[in-house]
Amino acid sequence: MPEPFYSAESFYGQQRALRFEADVRDCEVIGAIPRELNGSYYRAGPDSQYPTLDRDIIINGEGMVSLFRFEDGHVDFRCRYVKTERYKAQDAARRRLYGKYRNPYTDDPAAPRLDRDNTANTYAHYHHGRLFALREDSHPTEMDPDTLETLPTWDFNGALESTSVSAHPKIDPVTGEWWSFSFFAHRRFDGDMMLQVIDKDGKLFRQEDFQAPYPGVAHDFAVTREHVIFPVMPMTVDMERLTKGGDFYAFDPNLPAMWGIMPRSGTTKDIRWFRSPGAFMGHVMNAYTEGSKVHVDCTISGTNAFPFFRDVKGQRTDPMKGIPTVSRVTFDLASNSDVASEVRPFPGAMGEMPRCDDRFQMSRYRYGFMKTRDGIARLDWETGVRSLHPIPDGSAQEPVLVPRSPDSAEGDGFILCVVNRLGKNRADLLVLDANAMEAPPLATIQLPFDQPMAFHGCFAPRTSSGAQRAKAL
Ligand SMILES: [Fe+2]
Repeated sequence: MPEPFYSAESFYGQQRALRFEADVRDCEVIGAIPRELNGSYYRAGPDSQYPTLDRDIIINGEGMVSLFRFEDGHVDFRCRYVKTERYKAQDAARRRLYGKYRNPYTDDPAAPRLDRDNTANTYAHYHHGRLFALREDSHPTEMDPDTLETLPTWDFNGALESTSVSAHPKIDPVTGEWWSFSFFAHRRFDGDMMLQVIDKDGKLFRQEDFQAPYPGVAHDFAVTREHVIFPVMPMTVDMERLTKGGDFYAFDPNLPAMWGIMPRSGTTKDIRWFRSPGAFMGHVMNAYTEGSKVHVDCTISGTNAFPFFRDVKGQRTDPMKGIPTVSRVTFDLASNSDVASEVRPFPGAMGEMPRCDDRFQMSRYRYGFMKTRDGIARLDWETGVRSLHPIPDGSAQEPVLVPRSPDSAEGDGFILCVVNRLGKNRADLLVLDANAMEAPPLATIQLPFDQPMAFHGCFAPRTSSGAQRAKAL
């Protein structure tokens, strides 16, 4: 009896499998592509390859990477599954072999023992001319930036001492360094963490082990010019639960949300841990240091922000309390307190997928961007004003800001954002003028099919060699 394709439990609903790879040369465009927009917009997300176990969750889907290539007013589209080891094993078997998210005890007995957790589904990351599909429990999977052919996983020429790197890399806009960390770096699952720093040419030159206060979840982190901040949120890991076929994570409301703050000039031995009672962090918009204060602008909810994970008693957590609001969390290093000094919500900034103008990462900045329930928002931290591009008939994904030019003012550029057209089985890529959020899109790139929800991506500007390679598309 064939198994049905169950929809996956997502953040605020269900996601069905789409399961196709596609190429569209010269996408249909309404409006005009700005002439300054040349380069490749990469995104990564999950999509089921075969029927999953019932009640599978969105973050367990196989990685699907997509590319919108902008070239002199034309846009070409391509999407490909990341052909990971597990993808290839299931493809050969023509069925599901791997069970629940990060739980090998739920696998088919015939499943080959391999890199089972690496779905490469979280962040399409472009660094030193190379494209990587990242996933927080695994090594990066390299992909050809033009063809999206899957290349081998990358361990930095054998230098990487941990089992994973973060799926939320931070690029220092001054040095070009790729800052990262690993949670469960050695798969002891006792809170083993590691800091990693990679130089602008891709050489891994710094690795330091440290220990989190408890084995929680550290999905994102923050870097300022002076500090590194490691948030550890109260989702616990329990080996006994795993062996019984349970979930990898469960929310424990009795544990405090913790934030480790390290001076960049120091080492992980200098980490000081703070608490933020009642404030659960999801994603970071940006962070900066101001005197003795460290500000982390991030999505904050009152409880578990990952509603598809139950609590430690197996109960659902309150999905309404789990809806986050972008907030400024401030820590005062001059204080003796081990509690965040302030958690200040940005008015009306309820939503997720926060980004900033990446040229202003790690420093005091003005503009942030995010998806909200009603559209795509720009937050102005100087005036406290939220500007909205409303989307009445669709659901926005992560917005990414592309500067108009390398030296344009902060926030002067274009917002790229995929929008799923609800009920129409289609998706569009919107190009907005970031200085005129309320205005109609400059261009709407229409795909003749839908797109799975992607998590995170980036824009790589065209280089002279890239322009030549683009002809292969
Ligand atoms: Fe994320």
